[in-house]
Amino acid sequence: MFKINDNYLKLPGSYLFSNIGKKVNAFTSANPDKKIIRLGIGDVTLPLAPKVIDTLHSAVDEMGSAASFKGYAPDLGYEFLRQAIATNDYKARGVEIALDEIFISDGAKSDSGNIGDIFAVDNKIAVCDPVYPVYVDTNVMAGRTGEYNVETERWSNVIYMPCTEATGFAPELPSQTPDIIYLCFPNNPTGATLNKAELQKWVDYALKVGAVIVYDAAYEAYISEEDVPHTIYECEGAKECSIEIRSFSKNAGFTGTRLGFTVIPKELKSGDTMLNSLWARRHGTKFNGAPYIIQKAGEAIYTEEGKAQTRQQVEYYMNNAKIIRDGLAAAGYSVSGGVNAPYIWLKTPDKMTSWEFFDYLLNEANVVGTPGSGFGPSGEGYFRLTAFGTYENTLEAMERIKAL
Ligand code: MLT
Repeated sequence: MFKINDNYLKLPGSYLFSNIGKKVNAFTSANPDKKIIRLGIGDVTLPLAPKVIDTLHSAVDEMGSAASFKGYAPDLGYEFLRQAIATNDYKARGVEIALDEIFISDGAKSDSGNIGDIFAVDNKIAVCDPVYPVYVDTNVMAGRTGEYNVETERWSNVIYMPCTEATGFAPELPSQTPDIIYLCFPNNPTGATLNKAELQKWVDYALKVGAVIVYDAAYEAYISEEDVPHTIYECEGAKECSIEIRSFSKNAGFTGTRLGFTVIPKELKSGDTMLNSLWARRHGTKFNGAPYIIQKAGEAIYTEEGKAQTRQQVEYYMNNAKIIRDGLAAAGYSVSGGVNAPYIWLKTPDKMTSWEFFDYLLNEANVVGTPGSGFGPSGEGYFRLTAFGTYENTLEAMERIKAL
């Protein structure tokens, strides 16, 4: 008789954004005349940049001719894309990353979920609280998190690092020693960042205790302040303790086309074993590559035209972020984020819980956001709005919220 992976049964409810989707669908069915503005999930609204579209068209044509047709992609991804990444994302920032330390994938969500495959089940993970739910849920699926306590909304075998107003929404070094530390900066959901000295403190700590940092840098393109590192490898010693995960979703609008990558330096070892070799084995066995046409489109964002066009998109969203920040502040909300990240983190008014505020905003302003408590218990009493809407909808949403 077969047995299921009953770790799945421990997961409370469904994935946060699926829950929100269901609630919003129920509201729209009951109120078909209402115009909903969605500032919930961090999904982009601008179309792909013209340079990306042109490249996609020509890559599709290549697939239609025997001479240029491509079948399976190379295990690690096409060299043209890995070279563009190594040059533009790393070398340009003074960091040497070899081409065989870069693994092209279908996105940061899958990589941050799958990376657990190369670690033993008895590793102890540390996460920020609030946190992008994928890090915790995938560790639950792997059986690494212990039991869930409904009262505290915490897993018995997870180290939580509260990121509160008191800490500037940054984590503090944990008192218990973790084996795997998940960090995401600029942060989803709070929009907070660490400066270089603060990130260096984490690298030093990981090296000292023998932990690995899984560093999710999906929002790197939104950094606007000088002293904020664009890659963890700007920190001394980071190659010996850090895996970095990147996405093309937020910097170039690939949420629907899917492309990302993970960097595992060869210096990162457990005993004599390189984590790079384990991930290469896993990647080669369980993944058959992002499509050629999408990898070509990814390469296009590193051309001069591609850079200029995607920069404009990021600026468009950051203008929305400013509209949200300023609008909420003018309406008397306590707000943070939105300066180095496309997320704005606000305190709910009148001591409403995050879900109460979600319902209030949906019912009274027909605006969808994300309840902070969905990201962890320290998110209770907070709410996230995304800057990824259209300019017009962002303005209208702010007018509606101000009028409440
Ligand atoms: C979010 O809204 O937190 C993100 O869109 C989720 C993701 O990128 O997977």
